[in-house]
Amino acid sequence: MKGCGTLPGLYDDFPTPLMTAPRQPEYRIDPQFTERWSPRAFTGEALDKGSLMTCLEAARWAPSGNNLQPWRFVYGLRGTPAFEQLLGTLVESNRVWARQAGALVLVLSRTQRLVPGKEGPQPIASHAFDAGAAWMSLALQAQALGLHAHAMGGFDKARAREVLAVPDDHALHAVVALGRRGEASLLPEALREREQPNGRLPLSALVAEGKFSFEG
Ligand SMILES: Cc1cc2nc3c(=O)[nH]c(=O)nc-3n(C[C@H](O)[C@H](O)[C@H](O)COP(=O)(O)O)c2cc1C
Repeated sequence: MKGCGTLPGLYDDFPTPLMTAPRQPEYRIDPQFTERWSPRAFTGEALDKGSLMTCLEAARWAPSGNNLQPWRFVYGLRGTPAFEQLLGTLVESNRVWARQAGALVLVLSRTQRLVPGKEGPQPIASHAFDAGAAWMSLALQAQALGLHAHAMGGFDKARAREVLAVPDDHALHAVVALGRRGEASLLPEALREREQPNGRLPLSALVAEGKFSFEG
């Protein structure tokens, strides 16, 4: 497996001693799950529209409650005004590296719908859960194309809503940087050390049989 669990120094910046070795699964899984990660160094090449649409097509096939498909995506390809507009919504700490991405994609979801026989808009209970599934499909498809995807919650939602004309009945979740991975040396110094796959909590901290029995 191409995982990075044996590279020296990777334990150094673990946020908690509970974390397992980076990218070392406890059970055998398809490597696509451990090989996906979120780099910040992108080459600065524009993404071709076909690759972007392939990633969005994968997202389209995600499962959703009642097959309502509440996810929506607003994209900008590098070198276009749409890209600059999305970039402008990011917090500075994300903008410094995401400006090198090949495309930016805002992930949204519809929060309400009209239901025959019911008065007024009804909430779509699973809209955020469904949008999360769609984003993961997008990320895994990007990886299958040799690309990387990095989601960012660090953006100004009010500004994005305004400049992108997002209606009130849609929630904004994340802006995803998409593109070809570049050398860590392209990054500002403070980010270079973090430019490596991270670990996960052990399965035992996340999974219980029959009853909620977690500490903390
Ligand atoms: C909803 C969401 C919001 C995130 N926000 C940011 C962000 O604002 N900036 C950033 O650099 N990374 C952000 N990330 C990336 C996470 O830090 C990253 O996914 C996590 O550390 C796990 O690492 P991996 O994706 O490399 O496996 C975000 C990820 C998600 C799913």
